[in-house]
Amino acid sequence: MSMLSQKTFCLYTYGCQMNEHDSERIAGMLESHGAVQVSSVEQAEIAIFVTCCIREAADVRLMGQVASIKNIPLPQGSELSKRIVCIGGCIGQRDAEKLPEALPHVDVVFGTQNIEHLVSLIEAAIIQGGHQVEVLDSSTSFSTELPSKRVHPWSAWLPVTVGCNNFCTYCIVPYVRGRERSRTLEDVVEEARGLVADGVKEITLLGQNVNSYGRDLYGEPRFADVLRGVAETGVERLRFATSHPKDLTREVIELYGSLGNLMPSLHLPVQSGSDAILKAMNRRYTAEHYLGLIEEVRKVNPDISFSTDIIVGFPGETEEDFQATYDLVERVGYSQVFTFIYSRREGTPAASMQDDTPHEVIQRRFDSLVDLVQENAFAQNQRFVGRTVDVLVEGASKRDERVLAGHSPHNITVHAPLPEGVRIDDIVGTVVPVRIDEAKAWYLSGAMLRD
Ligand code: 5AD
Ligand code: SF4
Repeated sequence: MSMLSQKTFCLYTYGCQMNEHDSERIAGMLESHGAVQVSSVEQAEIAIFVTCCIREAADVRLMGQVASIKNIPLPQGSELSKRIVCIGGCIGQRDAEKLPEALPHVDVVFGTQNIEHLVSLIEAAIIQGGHQVEVLDSSTSFSTELPSKRVHPWSAWLPVTVGCNNFCTYCIVPYVRGRERSRTLEDVVEEARGLVADGVKEITLLGQNVNSYGRDLYGEPRFADVLRGVAETGVERLRFATSHPKDLTREVIELYGSLGNLMPSLHLPVQSGSDAILKAMNRRYTAEHYLGLIEEVRKVNPDISFSTDIIVGFPGETEEDFQATYDLVERVGYSQVFTFIYSRREGTPAASMQDDTPHEVIQRRFDSLVDLVQENAFAQNQRFVGRTVDVLVEGASKRDERVLAGHSPHNITVHAPLPEGVRIDDIVGTVVPVRIDEAKAWYLSGAMLRD
């Protein structure tokens, strides 16, 4: 019997979808050793933090949260002498040497390349005590080979690549996730088949840059091959994230016209609308190239919705540079924009670039962009009023348990009151038609139709 049998654990996940996927694997692996997941640290004998270091705020929050659990007693009846605290993910990878000193009550530090070793690290911490620290520079396996406990049984992440070779000058990811590696096409399609057989309705293919998939594999299969192969499994909804604009191919764009289950939304991070800033960021495309891609996609399907990531206040960003970003956002008409204020990350090339724009100026730019984004999202959402859309139901709305919440094919949140006699448990994880009556900036609402 495993030492973890009947031990309780809680899991805190920060950052990107790759971390969420890793956490599902961690939960699956611990449960396969008999451990039991609980929702609060008070009930947990083992606390695991899967961390993110992409911006400074994430670092600061983590340190505070880990420090604050030090004095919370173990749950009653525990046989352990202390709660086992584990830090993994990107901060674990980056700060393996420093963490035990900074947070002495941390027992296990692991990284992004060795989550499959977490059980033995926890066991060693229980038996031997002391700090169990292990991070690896690279791994030969994929965490996806581990058992998984999906947060939503009907929706799955499916990594096609891990790591990144792009070295955008602001970004820490290539240093904490390592070089890009692709899974074989057969592996990916086989996993997708298994997921569909398991009742999964929605698969999101994951990678830091899915468009460069396959360059490291024999025969150089392309991302378009992955999309076709996974679409053929018959999964209801197929999505992918993230795409780098420099690598988005015509072949992939055309699949929006031919694969019925490829959902009509595309997340295409632009980061800036200024060519000078794009160059300093090492993005390797121009604003014109980016706008050309949007146009090509719209030619294939005019109804597609776009989302993007933007960094405001990159070192040296002038008012004109910012205006170029603002204009680009206005031209594209995004449904959703993730806006970030530049955060200096030690060890990246941008960290040593001259950066003298006052914070108030950056904040003003950021606020005006956020206003524009909201106007755009509202305008984009108007086009759904009067249409009936298929909604994959995720559960009741947080504010009202008589209202269902889910996502449309365009990846927009939809709310609708539950019809008389319908319980949320009857429809969760299924696709229901909703006639849209009203559009807000952040969601659509309407009436669920019965067949
Ligand atoms: N500062 C601010 N935003 C960043 N991102 C990545 N690194 C930084 C940084 N140092 C943003 C990018 C990326 C998203 C996931 O996070 O926009 O696309
Ligand atoms: Fe970071 Fe650029 Fe790689 Fe994305 S593509 S993870 S922004 S280095």
